[in-house]
Amino acid sequence: MKSLYIIPSALLAAVLLVTSSCSGSSLKGTSTIGSTPEVEKRIDALLSKMTLEEKIGQMNQLSVGGPVENYAEAIRSGQVGSILNDVDPARLNELQKIAVEQSRLGIPLIVGRDVIHGFRTIFPIPLGIAATFDPDLAREGARVAAREATSTGVRWTFSPMLDIARDPRWGRIAEGSGEDTFLDSEMAKAMVRGYQGDILDSTSMAACVKHFVGYGAAEGGRDYNSTFITERQLRNFYLPPFKAGIEAGAMTVMTSFNDNDGVPSTGNKFVVDEVLRDEWNFDGFVVTDWDSMGEMIAHGFASDRKHAAELSINAGVDMDMMTLGFLGELKKLVEEGKVKVSQIDNSVRNILRVKFLLGLFENPYVDPSKIEAYTEENLLAARKTVEESVILLKNDKGTLPLNDKSIRTILVTGPMADAPYEQMGTWVFDGQAEHTATPLSALREKFASTPVRIVYEPGLKFTRESRQSYPEVSAAARNADVILAFLGEEAILSGEAHCLADLNLIGGQSALLEELHKSGKPVVTVVMAGRPLTIERDLPNTDALLYAFHPGTMGGPAITRLLFGDVVPSGKTPITFLRTVGQVPLYYNHNNTGRPYDNNTLLGDIPLGAAQTSLGNTSYYLDYGAYPLFPFGYGLSYTTFSYSDLSLDKKQYSEDDTIHISFRLSNTGNFDAEEVAQVYVRDMVGSVTRPVKELKAFRRVPLAKGESRTVTIDLPVKDLAFWGLDMEYGVESGEFQLMVGGDSRAFMKVNFTVK
Ligand code: BGC
Repeated sequence: MKSLYIIPSALLAAVLLVTSSCSGSSLKGTSTIGSTPEVEKRIDALLSKMTLEEKIGQMNQLSVGGPVENYAEAIRSGQVGSILNDVDPARLNELQKIAVEQSRLGIPLIVGRDVIHGFRTIFPIPLGIAATFDPDLAREGARVAAREATSTGVRWTFSPMLDIARDPRWGRIAEGSGEDTFLDSEMAKAMVRGYQGDILDSTSMAACVKHFVGYGAAEGGRDYNSTFITERQLRNFYLPPFKAGIEAGAMTVMTSFNDNDGVPSTGNKFVVDEVLRDEWNFDGFVVTDWDSMGEMIAHGFASDRKHAAELSINAGVDMDMMTLGFLGELKKLVEEGKVKVSQIDNSVRNILRVKFLLGLFENPYVDPSKIEAYTEENLLAARKTVEESVILLKNDKGTLPLNDKSIRTILVTGPMADAPYEQMGTWVFDGQAEHTATPLSALREKFASTPVRIVYEPGLKFTRESRQSYPEVSAAARNADVILAFLGEEAILSGEAHCLADLNLIGGQSALLEELHKSGKPVVTVVMAGRPLTIERDLPNTDALLYAFHPGTMGGPAITRLLFGDVVPSGKTPITFLRTVGQVPLYYNHNNTGRPYDNNTLLGDIPLGAAQTSLGNTSYYLDYGAYPLFPFGYGLSYTTFSYSDLSLDKKQYSEDDTIHISFRLSNTGNFDAEEVAQVYVRDMVGSVTRPVKELKAFRRVPLAKGESRTVTIDLPVKDLAFWGLDMEYGVESGEFQLMVGGDSRAFMKVNFTVK
């Protein structure tokens, strides 16, 4: 059934005005989630019938699984507003039936699940999706995930994760869009729209932007650790993707585990109440992370569960995931006068608003005979996403694409060549390994009725395995025309709580690659991993390298098509690739220092007994210099592109203007391909130190071989605004430099001023 409610968009927001004049409404302006006066009336009517206990029950979320009887009574008596972690449609219908037909007020449950990069059909990990620089594709992927998940009764996903991450040791870097605020914001909007759909109907899955906020800056890249982000950094780098997600209509927000400067997010009134509610007018609901309310006790921020519940509700949190703090303590807190019923009413309003808008009251059940999973359309969308997300990082002497006319024997090796579960990556609760197409299976299928022979010698069973030698692999290598080595990380090596201090290829993988290289045969490496690994030492041992992150269900067919040139790689690094882990954090949009790097002497150039001096030295490492292995936004193609003729329509702009950028992009090689053209801006002088450059726009441009095209991009001057010295948001007058290129080094430059 299609419901009538429309997601707010620039176009529609104006007609969905809900003001505080609505009876009892807590809304202060335009509803960020698309509520209407009718919905607000229904909320008020229902709220007026609810007991305090029933209200508190709506604020409680419970993880379920196993027999329905275990939860039946709690749901029947109105103690549960939401459940998570069950995806069995029959059981979900039963649980829903208890809520709708047997509880006093018949309020449906909202069923949550971590649908992070696909439900059944698994897409690349979010970091891989970001590498596509293709928000339309990300949106399509989220739509596929929503259709599959909602067909089982899941109407709420805990995604997208919008945590900016500059530290690849952090395992959850896999779950986000990387280091850049603009790219993250574009992906945020796309995924929210994809999950929720243009029109809210029974395939709409409420999005949850998480983790609010700063979680990706965990000290040392150790998950759950403290962060120390200043308010200016928060506002300039960490908050904008969330704001973008809210503006795209995200219905829910999840608080994070970290304490920022001593304040755990679940008790952080500043970020939840002031920024999210007061500044952004968010009127969906805020859920804690898993027991993050209770964890405030371990933080030493709350003395006990009651105190934790008080801090949470006072910060603006509406729903408790798994602490049972609201359920167990809110009533006492009301009786003691520490929490007002009006606060509880506000939270319940926020929760009911989402339930009404999702159409759960009209449509609480699913039809178990209409489950959507692994349809051809969904698998194709997943394959296309992998094809755009894989990054070509090395391609000596045009090793790739492979020419199947001149190859007779292919050696397929490495622990990720046929690892259907591992290639799906982290946060895959519902993707099934038996539906995953690995590179080995795809290659075998491609060459099934041809003279080409596929020889499979994995060398290592798992990425963590080590061996002294690889005689059977070496023997096979000698007889092969080309070697395809699939290396990387098992799924469990990234994701929540799975952080690493060493980012080299794990186990015996580097040694295996070295051995392969000794054969003298062309070696092509495909890395499937949850993070950018430090692969510098491996590069000399391979002729070509494709970085595929964890590509998901359709990894095998997509990679095969890339290897043989059916499609040309076009992915770009959504995060800086480091030479060594000691460079952390190294990100492209760092502030200008007083001593910018100037190709200074490295360790080997310093004479023994050299006199002490710092003069002429700059910000860099003696042993590793100042540059990464691969910069942000980088990725090769089978063809080559050239950029020229950058021009702007004016030299000087005012704040309300739009900058019309134009440049020429040419495909100068031998393949039809797509290039992600990128626009960066540097604010030359600011009231505070400004980044050396910031990504402000990008465009995927398809170009046939030999084709040249003028690319035009419009950049509103307002997009150059930032939080300056007095914590005021705006564009500061002065000189700017605009840079265009195929990665963040963006060599083509032009200056302009804003007055
Ligand atoms: C994670 C969240 C996730 C939640 C529910 C937590 O451990 O931090 O990202 O959504 O569990 O599974």
